Amino acid sequence: MMRVPEDQWYPVLESREVRRKPLAVERLGQRLVFWRTADGLPHANLERCPHLGAALGGGKVCADRLVCPFHGFEFDAEGQCRHIPAVGRLGKIPKGMAVKCFPLREEHALIWLWWGEPIEAYPQVPFFPPLENGWRYGTVVVEWPVHYTRAIENQLDVAHLPFVHRTTIGSGGRRLVEGPYVEADGQGIKVWVTNARDEGQTPRSQSELAAAAAGKEPGLSFLFPGVWLLNISPKMKNFIAFVPVNNHKTRYYLRVYHRIQNPIFAKIFAALIGLSNRFILRQDERVVVTQTPADSADAHEDRWIGADRAIIQFRRLYAHLLD
Ligand code: FES
Ligand SMILES: [Fe+2]
Repeated sequence: MMRVPEDQWYPVLESREVRRKPLAVERLGQRLVFWRTADGLPHANLERCPHLGAALGGGKVCADRLVCPFHGFEFDAEGQCRHIPAVGRLGKIPKGMAVKCFPLREEHALIWLWWGEPIEAYPQVPFFPPLENGWRYGTVVVEWPVHYTRAIENQLDVAHLPFVHRTTIGSGGRRLVEGPYVEADGQGIKVWVTNARDEGQTPRSQSELAAAAAGKEPGLSFLFPGVWLLNISPKMKNFIAFVPVNNHKTRYYLRVYHRIQNPIFAKIFAALIGLSNRFILRQDERVVVTQTPADSADAHEDRWIGADRAIIQFRRLYAHLLD
């Protein structure tokens, strides 16, 4: 199990990955199985069969029940055992013969899993209003051998660009970080990125940067527990859903949202931009895997500078949510 904030909607898979057939994956340090009933609704259970512990991911779905491959026990969408072939149609099902199931949402072509106690009224899944309508996107999926706190912080870090991405997005030599100007609330963080070439000038103050940011969309936005948006232009945005697999692995669903309507051009564009994003992420990965300790919530010895403002806000809110 992972130590992560509870009572949150975690993006865990893309919709297209979940079919009727059981799909076994690790998420939040747990083995889980995802499947769909005939009405198309997705379901998620712990993968361990409560009988003798076989993996339900190797089973099948029959008449809206998840069937264990070992002794054929059948579980309904709530995880309750409904049939045990060995005891017969009239046999009694022992008390507690059930497999934990998780509340899910399917929105924005992502599967969201509620990590925490079930509650009466769930909050909305965290998403960015600017992405609601009229967009197309291409997806790149990668997995890094890092804790998801490090993966997120890397995408809130504005000082690494001219070093890690010297040959790509950081090629302008803008090493001086003005600010950044950051706004944070209980749900997330917004960052207005203003890096400059260092010509010996005095960087603008926070109030000057705040005035410059007024009325402008932030360059970066993050919503807990794990979605991120890079505002490239009014017609192009990068989105990442950070998926905690376990303490040493994070899965990224990186989508480039764009407005190209022609399906052929959209496909070519998505393929090219996908390649370039993979390359840029590879540049990050090489450094992020070297960070210690793995979980940034344990990184009490880090010494910060002003440019780390967004990371500091992330750690503050993260610690608060962990409490
Ligand atoms: S272990 Fe699943 S039915 Fe026996
Ligand atoms: Fe980067």
